[in-house]
Amino acid sequence: MTKDKDLKKLIRSRMVESNEPYTAARAQMLSSGGHSRGGRAAGPVDVDDENSSTASLPLDARIFVSGHRGLVGSALIRKLRAAGYQNLLTATRDQLDLRDQAAVSYWFRANRPEFVFLVAGTVGGIGANTARPAAFLYDNMMIHATVVQASHDFGVKKLLYLGSSCIYPRDASQPITEERLLEGPLEPTNEAYAIAKIAGIKLCEAYRTQYSDNFISAMPTNLYGPDDNFDLADGHLVAMLIRRFHEARLRGDRQVTAWGTGTPRRELMHVDDLADACLFLMATYDRPGFVNVGTGEDHTVRQIAETIRDLVHPDAELVFDPTKPDGMRRKVLDVSRIHALGWRHSIDLADGLRSTYDWYRSAIRIRGVTQSPPAA
Ligand SMILES: NC(=O)c1ccc[n+]([C@@H]2O[C@H](COP(=O)([O-])OP(=O)(O)OC[C@H]3O[C@@H](n4cnc5c(N)ncnc54)[C@H](OP(=O)(O)O)[C@@H]3O)[C@@H](O)[C@H]2O)c1
Repeated sequence: MTKDKDLKKLIRSRMVESNEPYTAARAQMLSSGGHSRGGRAAGPVDVDDENSSTASLPLDARIFVSGHRGLVGSALIRKLRAAGYQNLLTATRDQLDLRDQAAVSYWFRANRPEFVFLVAGTVGGIGANTARPAAFLYDNMMIHATVVQASHDFGVKKLLYLGSSCIYPRDASQPITEERLLEGPLEPTNEAYAIAKIAGIKLCEAYRTQYSDNFISAMPTNLYGPDDNFDLADGHLVAMLIRRFHEARLRGDRQVTAWGTGTPRRELMHVDDLADACLFLMATYDRPGFVNVGTGEDHTVRQIAETIRDLVHPDAELVFDPTKPDGMRRKVLDVSRIHALGWRHSIDLADGLRSTYDWYRSAIRIRGVTQSPPAA
């Protein structure tokens, strides 16, 4: 067996046996024979014999994290910095509107990113999706198109595009494997968003097919964590519930209302786990097929809401408003593919919700909350 094959086996066995989160820094440590940074520069990391090419992620790489102030982008920045990456490129929406091809091309020409995390987008919960389908479709299709095209034009070595579990058909069999894409009608409450996200996957695949660009895609499940959007109209389930219970406690309200019936089942993943998976895939995955990223575990909305209630405002009564939409009945990803590659999530839901609420109570700036920061 060659030295390279030994190394691949070593990486795979250490990841699976230890169940530790796998980062590019860890890949580099393993690829330098188990020694920490300061050894030789990272060589290519390839944990799968079938990968046709390899892409290392050296510590001095120029890495563009689009949407770096958002839930996912800010987690990626934290993870990359912690792993020792210094050359991180960012731009706020005011500095660079990613829907504008000319501006994006100009920015790529000036900044020459080598690796791109295509994370920016118009994102929100059921309420926002239902109220603003045009924005969800137009903004996301434009952002995907401009960044993918500029990445091609300016020779980006590798791009990781983030889709969403919303891409799957409403009646997809559960847990949802990657093969279920385009097998049936979409969930109407987020159809516009899902169509844009599917177009993003297909765009990356088309550039890979036509131009051999190393553009890959990951499909994350529902996320939560620091820097989430806590807007009551635009936010996702966890952020909205944390804020509702917290503000009810401050006001002394004894009742909190959540949308729908509470019976749909949802999978939730802490955004730090997603950031870890993104680095893992960027460092190691070079195949055409996209990859689900989740925990593979789901809970009813009621269970999730009760856990947050117990954490934030244990005296409150939780009631559901069945006149509001439930969304999909069940949505849990089959995560066999990413498990087989050697990555697993590591943050338990109860711990993740607790640390997110701790963050919410101490944060100086909370997205979607315009009043003064909530008191502890
Ligand atoms: N949140 C989830 O549960 C979830 C689940 C699955 C997949 N995803 C995917 O993960 C990605 C990130 O989601 P997120 O939750 O991190 O969203 P987010 O918190 O709303 O952040 C979105 C980011 O995109 C940036 N952005 C939006 N429009 C832009 C534009 N026209 N030009 C430049 N920047 C723009 C925003 O920039 P500013 O800060 O400057 O406004 C913001 O930083 C999306 O692709 C989403 O589909 C999210």
